[in-house]
Amino acid sequence: MKKIALGLTAVALSLAATTSQAGQVEVLHWWTSGGEAAAIDVLKQEMKEQGDTWKDFAVAGGGGESAMTVLKSRAIAGNPPSAAQIKGPTIQEWGDLGFLENIDDVAKAGHWDKLLPPVVSKIMKYDGHYVAVPVNVHRVNWLWANPEVFRKAGASIPTTWDQFFVAADKIKKAGYIPLAHGGQAWQDATLFEAIALSEGTDFYKAAFVDLKDDALKGPKMVDALTKFKKMRQYVDPGFSGRDWNVATSMVINGKAAMQIMGDWAKGEFTAAGKRPGVDYVCLPAPGTSGQFTFNIDSLAMFKVSGKDTQKAQRDLARLVMEPKFQEVFNLKKGSIPVRLGMPRDKFDACADSSMDAFNAASATGDLVPSMAHGMAVNSMIQGAMFDVITNFFNSDSMTPEQAADKLARSVKAASM
Ligand code: GAL
Repeated sequence: MKKIALGLTAVALSLAATTSQAGQVEVLHWWTSGGEAAAIDVLKQEMKEQGDTWKDFAVAGGGGESAMTVLKSRAIAGNPPSAAQIKGPTIQEWGDLGFLENIDDVAKAGHWDKLLPPVVSKIMKYDGHYVAVPVNVHRVNWLWANPEVFRKAGASIPTTWDQFFVAADKIKKAGYIPLAHGGQAWQDATLFEAIALSEGTDFYKAAFVDLKDDALKGPKMVDALTKFKKMRQYVDPGFSGRDWNVATSMVINGKAAMQIMGDWAKGEFTAAGKRPGVDYVCLPAPGTSGQFTFNIDSLAMFKVSGKDTQKAQRDLARLVMEPKFQEVFNLKKGSIPVRLGMPRDKFDACADSSMDAFNAASATGDLVPSMAHGMAVNSMIQGAMFDVITNFFNSDSMTPEQAADKLARSVKAASM
């Protein structure tokens, strides 16, 4: 029954593709910061050039929590957008509910199976069929630093956590904020995950991918939580609730020395006209140089009706994987192309090093999915982890041992 329905859709779609009528594509995303908006504008523009209309469905809020809430209510009301920024295992959750559209025809015509690393194409498929198109690869374990602040404080940019704490003390003494941070659950998790990664790839995988009880509550987790809690000394009193891009601007304008954040932060430096290696420095988060926590943005396609709408949806999927979009979008977004074999000449040193690190880490087994950005676990387990991490960061009484214990118990409960 399902197969027959899909077959009919394919016929309808191939007919739709031969018409030249303009269709509308409604796209849900949360790309509203300076760098993010500049990046998504590339897609809006390319869609317009196809003769399609872009209906923007932007829901502000880094990490996308608010966007996902709004998406759920639209889907429940039977009126989902044509495409939505959905990532990782969440694609499978939407697929299970029967909302997603099979776009194998676009993928086949565009040779996606050959042009995507298998680790990526696997995520884009539900039940063996493409239902989403990947946009980019973000590396999450980055440290962004303002070299001028380091110079003024007489500190060196750290490559280990021990060096980080030494530098942060000096920076604080010199009157600057060592760590620009926003107290939002996903940002806490982003910082924590970078620290946990430095405990080793095997540990990271055991805890955040395989959800092993002994890793979740063991000594390495306790150590990571201890270092994480120490970060409270280095953030300013106004950190609570701050948006990530506001934190990035504190590094850009020299109020703060560092931020631990994925390379969408580079999009903010770029939008502000700053140059890597001159105005700012990008380094792997301390202790994680050979490792790569990946966050792959993707647009999942919803089942929509109307030939023109379906054509516009397929135009969108096709354009996203084309070399032109992969280059221009990622230059603005701070990420690297997900499409293999792309020329590197226009990309800066940070992107270059991200591309090298992605290749090297895939070869050594140090390429791991980001828990904080929904690539490692489903939304229930991610939510349970976020709660413990944020509560611990803000608690005056919880010990790292208690937090580790709570983490293991919450994950167990969320997995039932
Ligand atoms: C991530 C998303 C990135 C970036 C970031 C901050 O989850 O994958 O593309 O936009 O949130 O909004």
